[in-house]
Amino acid sequence: VTQGEPSGWQSAAVGSRLLHSFYQFFPCSLSPSLPGPLSLPLLGNMLELAHDHLPSHLTSLARRYGNIYRLKCGNTTMVVLNSGDIIREALVKKWSDFAGRPHSYTGDVVSGGGRSISLGDYSEEWRAHRRLAHNALQRCTQQSLHGVIQKQALQLRQVLLDYNGRAADLSGDFTVAASNVITTLAFGKEYEKSSAELQRLHGCLNEIVSLWGSPWISALDSFPLLRKLPNPPFSRLLKEVARRDEIIRTHLDEYRMQAPSKTSEDAIAITGALLNGLGKPQDTTQGVVLTDTHVHMATVDLLIGGTETTAAWLSWTVAFLLHRPEVQYRVYDELCSVLDGRYPQYSDRHRLPVLCAVISEVLRLRPVAPLAVPHRAIRDSSIAGYFIPKNTVIIPNLFGAHHDPAVWTDPYAFKPERFLEGGGASTRALLPFGGGARLCLGEAVAKMELFLFTAYLLSDFQFVPAESRASLPDLTGVASVVLKAKAYTVIARPRPGP
Ligand code: HEM
Repeated sequence: VTQGEPSGWQSAAVGSRLLHSFYQFFPCSLSPSLPGPLSLPLLGNMLELAHDHLPSHLTSLARRYGNIYRLKCGNTTMVVLNSGDIIREALVKKWSDFAGRPHSYTGDVVSGGGRSISLGDYSEEWRAHRRLAHNALQRCTQQSLHGVIQKQALQLRQVLLDYNGRAADLSGDFTVAASNVITTLAFGKEYEKSSAELQRLHGCLNEIVSLWGSPWISALDSFPLLRKLPNPPFSRLLKEVARRDEIIRTHLDEYRMQAPSKTSEDAIAITGALLNGLGKPQDTTQGVVLTDTHVHMATVDLLIGGTETTAAWLSWTVAFLLHRPEVQYRVYDELCSVLDGRYPQYSDRHRLPVLCAVISEVLRLRPVAPLAVPHRAIRDSSIAGYFIPKNTVIIPNLFGAHHDPAVWTDPYAFKPERFLEGGGASTRALLPFGGGARLCLGEAVAKMELFLFTAYLLSDFQFVPAESRASLPDLTGVASVVLKAKAYTVIARPRPGP
């Protein structure tokens, strides 16, 4: 069993074998057929997928077709899951049936031929790769993460002070802070906002994520004939991937050259732990040996998975708090009375329920990976009583589950108080990090970052609208692989010092 695999996996595997035998004897037509919109010849439901805000559109389809429905795209059948119970059934209870990732032409391009953790299909090699990265991350998390985040939170404070009360778009500053946490963990390196190296790295990672999420590029997966036609966005994607690989290669080479002279703090960087695991047979039945490519792709996974997500979440938090200034005041009041002027430690979270409620509510309303990453059925199975054939693509609509009116009262409203005692909501109903074998690898890192960054920011600053309440940020957002807030400016007004 690899790290992150839920207990009870044996019974899940036995269950799915039984189900497989059942479907061999009884035709699958006995199972009800999945509802879904009319599928057009050739196009299937492609138009549904080309929607501007896909998570929100898929959620509205759930109101029409139910919490599980199918969409066709070329030869691919996708099943969209829209409630917490159904997503948990697939990802957690039946994780061993749905831990695969779809193979795709464009996925292979961005993942070094399916060799990344996030896009690699479920296999012995993938398990060894994920375990290596998980152990390296866990070691760094225990040894240095708290200090690394605190340092970045203080640097972010200085950057915000330097605005001198001027209105500014803080999204770039949040990206630098989140990115520096990962690059410090990964290679023991941090950057200034103006650093050309940082701009290059993020310019190209951002471009890859947004190009890969665009319909011009995903169409190539469903309609192979299109690959023969000129496609400028796809050519750009190829160029950016080459640029990304060059940057990461340079970092890894630099790390290798400096490693012997590193201080003990630097030596615990993830790259060191990953490189240490290379060339040795991993603890798997097939004696998998991991290579430099695995270290390279794990680094890409951490940088992509760990930067835009956390940064986008911070932007959402400030945006929502601008809409409800009284909540911002309540958090500040709680921080002052509980901490008595000192900065918080992660262990203080149990004594700061209002702050934690804000964090949960922003994760609920704006899960920054709103459709997780598509899963693939590794074998015939079932979800919610429907037969799901092998190779079906599963889309966990986390955004939909977090807006399910059967679970959440007034689901579209920003109400952190729902998570406070007597508020009626439970954080157990949240799924912002997915679940099961594919649970977000950086969940522990992200939770500490969200807590510490928010606590520092709200202790040090009052966030006020740039002009008047008429200039409050738009809360719809821009949905690609990551759900981001539209650009807005805000004034960070310093609070009296601790
Ligand atoms: C995967 C959410 C931060 C690394 C995922 C998935 C979600 C998610 C929903 C997909 C799970 C699935 O496929 O079912 C988030 C959120 C974050 C966050 C909401 C912050 C607010 C991070 C950080 C890191 C990270 C900080 C790295 C340090 C990854 C990786 C995967 C992943 C490597 C792929 C896991 C796999 O396929 O096995 N994340 N994430 N994430 N995340 Fe995160």
